[in-house]
Amino acid sequence: MRAWRVRRVGEPLDVLSLEDVESPEPSPGMLRVRVEAAGVGLPDVLMCRGSYPLTPGYPFTPGQELVGEVLAVGEGAAAQVGDRVMAVSGFYLGHGSFAEECLAQGDFALSVPDEMPAEEAASFVIPFHTAWVGLARRGALQKGETLLVVGGAGGTGSAAVQLGKAMGARVIATAGGPEKVEFCRSLGADAVIDYRLQDIAEGVREVTDGRGVDVAYDTVGGKAFLSASQVMALEGRLLLIGFAGGEWGRPSPAHMVGGNYSVVGVLPSFYEHGVREQAQAELLGYWRSGALKVRVHRVFEFEDVAEAVGELASGAAKGKIAVRVSR
Ligand SMILES: NC(=O)c1ccc[n+]([C@@H]2O[C@H](COP(=O)([O-])OP(=O)(O)OC[C@H]3O[C@@H](n4cnc5c(N)ncnc54)[C@H](OP(=O)(O)O)[C@@H]3O)[C@@H](O)[C@H]2O)c1
Repeated sequence: MRAWRVRRVGEPLDVLSLEDVESPEPSPGMLRVRVEAAGVGLPDVLMCRGSYPLTPGYPFTPGQELVGEVLAVGEGAAAQVGDRVMAVSGFYLGHGSFAEECLAQGDFALSVPDEMPAEEAASFVIPFHTAWVGLARRGALQKGETLLVVGGAGGTGSAAVQLGKAMGARVIATAGGPEKVEFCRSLGADAVIDYRLQDIAEGVREVTDGRGVDVAYDTVGGKAFLSASQVMALEGRLLLIGFAGGEWGRPSPAHMVGGNYSVVGVLPSFYEHGVREQAQAELLGYWRSGALKVRVHRVFEFEDVAEAVGELASGAAKGKIAVRVSR
């Protein structure tokens, strides 16, 4: 079978190459899946550059998310051969989803509605399950509260904007440039701050009459995190999601105490399968009602995976980029 592999540190277009490789054998808890479509995320770019914490040894195949058919089941994994699943891959073992066959985590393999297009299913699990764990559990977002999504036009942020609206929050998003601002509005954001034109904290104070936000969902980190921390309302929850801007946000204990707000880490890993199924049922309920949709910016062919990851690295994407692997 064919798989895209990385053998050295560099930019995606320079270091990704298509190779013939052996099919991986699923270890306990893992599945081997024939990949129908894969989602592309910033971690794939960072793995090429060698700056992602879970980058495996060389050579490895990136690609964290997928939809496909189960071909083999490792000991103890719940899925059956022949099941069609959306899943998080075994990218950290070197067998990600930019391949005709990959490893998938058995406990993170979930049912796919027949009517969901493959490109959407491939890009559903990571953005929406992260948003669910962040907003519904770790952030305990309540109807009527105000949510700030930093990086609202990104693959991860666009899911949080939609889920926040579906949960009944007032949503403020940040984005860079008029096209991305418009995109966030099309996702349902009530207000959008173009951080290239206005300081994020100043913009939030303006649209909240100085009150600030109850929950902030920060996919960017660095200076953007600092801005979000300045506008947390009393008992606010500032969710650490990612570092798309290059570095993690750095919480200040003194500032957290003085402002009576929390900084909360979010990762959808390590939950029991039952919790994931509960999340999936809620998310698919919203999806069926039309409240959530994976916004796929562009679909690439399998032969063009390097261009697909390069496009995400360029910052051009609004929402997700997907790859069609087989039909
Ligand atoms: N905790 C978790 O479980 C989890 C799950 C998924 C992803 N993540 C993390 O979330 C981050 C985003 O991943 P992604 O795949 O969503 O990336 P993405 O699709 O590339 O989106 C990132 C967004 O960040 C914005 N951005 C970048 N630099 C910025 C800056 N300096 N100031 C303000 N906004 C900036 C970009 O918006 P503009 O073009 O508008 O600037 C872009 O839309 C990554 O660090 C990833 O590792 C974490």
